Amino acid sequence: MIDLIIKNAHVATATDTFKCDIGIDKEKIIFLERDTKQKSKEIIDANNNFVLPGGIDAHCHIDQPMKDGSVMADNFETGSLSAAFGGTTTIIPFACQYKGENLREVIKDYHHRAENKSYIDYAFHTIISDVNKKVLGQELPAIIKDGYSHFKIYMTYEDLKLNDKDILNVLEVAGKEKAVVMIHAENDDCISWLTEKLEEKGKTGPKYHSFARPDVVESEATNRAISLSRIVNTPILFVHVSGKETIDIIRNAQSRGFKILAETCPQYLFLTKDDLDKDDFEGAKFICSPPPRTVEDQQHVWRGLNNGTFQIFSSDHAAFRFDDDKGKMMNGKNSSFKKIPNGLPGLETRLPLLFTYGVLKNKISLNKFVELTSTNPAKIYGLYPRKGTIAIGSDADLVIWNTKVKKKIANKDLHHNVDYTPYEDKEINTLANTVISRGTIVCCCSCTQGIRRHHSRHHRIHKAKRNIWKADH
Ligand code: URP
Ligand code: ZN
Ligand code: ZN
Repeated sequence: MIDLIIKNAHVATATDTFKCDIGIDKEKIIFLERDTKQKSKEIIDANNNFVLPGGIDAHCHIDQPMKDGSVMADNFETGSLSAAFGGTTTIIPFACQYKGENLREVIKDYHHRAENKSYIDYAFHTIISDVNKKVLGQELPAIIKDGYSHFKIYMTYEDLKLNDKDILNVLEVAGKEKAVVMIHAENDDCISWLTEKLEEKGKTGPKYHSFARPDVVESEATNRAISLSRIVNTPILFVHVSGKETIDIIRNAQSRGFKILAETCPQYLFLTKDDLDKDDFEGAKFICSPPPRTVEDQQHVWRGLNNGTFQIFSSDHAAFRFDDDKGKMMNGKNSSFKKIPNGLPGLETRLPLLFTYGVLKNKISLNKFVELTSTNPAKIYGLYPRKGTIAIGSDADLVIWNTKVKKKIANKDLHHNVDYTPYEDKEINTLANTVISRGTIVCCCSCTQGIRRHHSRHHRIHKAKRNIWKADH
């Protein structure tokens, strides 16, 4: 008797689409066969709905301490629950090193933050902000050997930014140790200069955040980072790429054979800079960096998802509550945009939005959806084939999707600890119906009628909290 069988699954991976029953035992997929005669302790009928590999959200910030007095809204309990309800079964948040901190200690601290809290699997990227001899010579190579072989560096933010020489040094180590370097590309001096000019003119409302960080700030930094990567011959991955100008630079570099990867996020498909221009400080809800751009930019982001410029689609969930003295309002409604915490919630809405507006509206194929949201993140960050696909021997991380939903996103239905969603009232036609993490049903909707009940108490939420799970290579 095996643990679980999912009958009548319409499976899609990054490359194939087929119908079968899925056998699951001891957390793994053990068979994929039609009309199985095998017996199991539990059966779920997928009713020919799509069953996809669980989503991997490879860019999210959870319980990350901040230096400005703000506090992130989500810890590993609420963040992982929200992710699970959105069809994600693995999250890769950041363990962030501030200056003077030892990298192994930082990682230990984040494992402690997550321990016995997460409903789904997690691994960590690190953020490297202190580039000195000890970090370059000992700490960074050591954590890469431990399996933390992907990290982010910043070209902006006072506490985190690296100069070009630091970046070259970090890239050199990454090249030697075969680590993946994620880059937040925005030119900090330009942002600071533009911010001063805006403030001199009294232009300090939320909408001016995007005036201080125009496309050229991002494209300049992207271009420079590509040059740095060429100098040391180390691949790099640009995170949260926002629009046409930067996409063109990345595409051009890729077509010249440089090893450049790129990620984008829902905010660059579904929001624009006009959202920052909402009255009564509401624009602060949309402040993130880089900022959302224009409708035309959104078209280029869709194109980049389709034509292979982007390999990864992540949420960049970095959530702060709005009406909260540790959140967006921490410095009051009249505060300058530069003092408003940066970041948006998105763990739970990432996949329903991309499925609805990408797959169901024929902008991307179902296989592309799986590739961008699960398979590629698993491959790039060393989790494949354990994660990121539906295959015999892979972890049974599976999502049954309901694609006949007619519903508007409402923050009251979401499971994060945030008092708003930037996507309030946006229509969606897809929701995760049953989410299985390593063979355990994390959340499910036994009623097939769908969506009205989907996020209600009607749901069983199985508290299958995960032990620490490291990316093993
Ligand atoms: O505004 C954003 N994206 N905040 C999160 C931190 C980052 O740079 O990804
Ligand atoms: Zn960033
Ligand atoms: Zn981020």
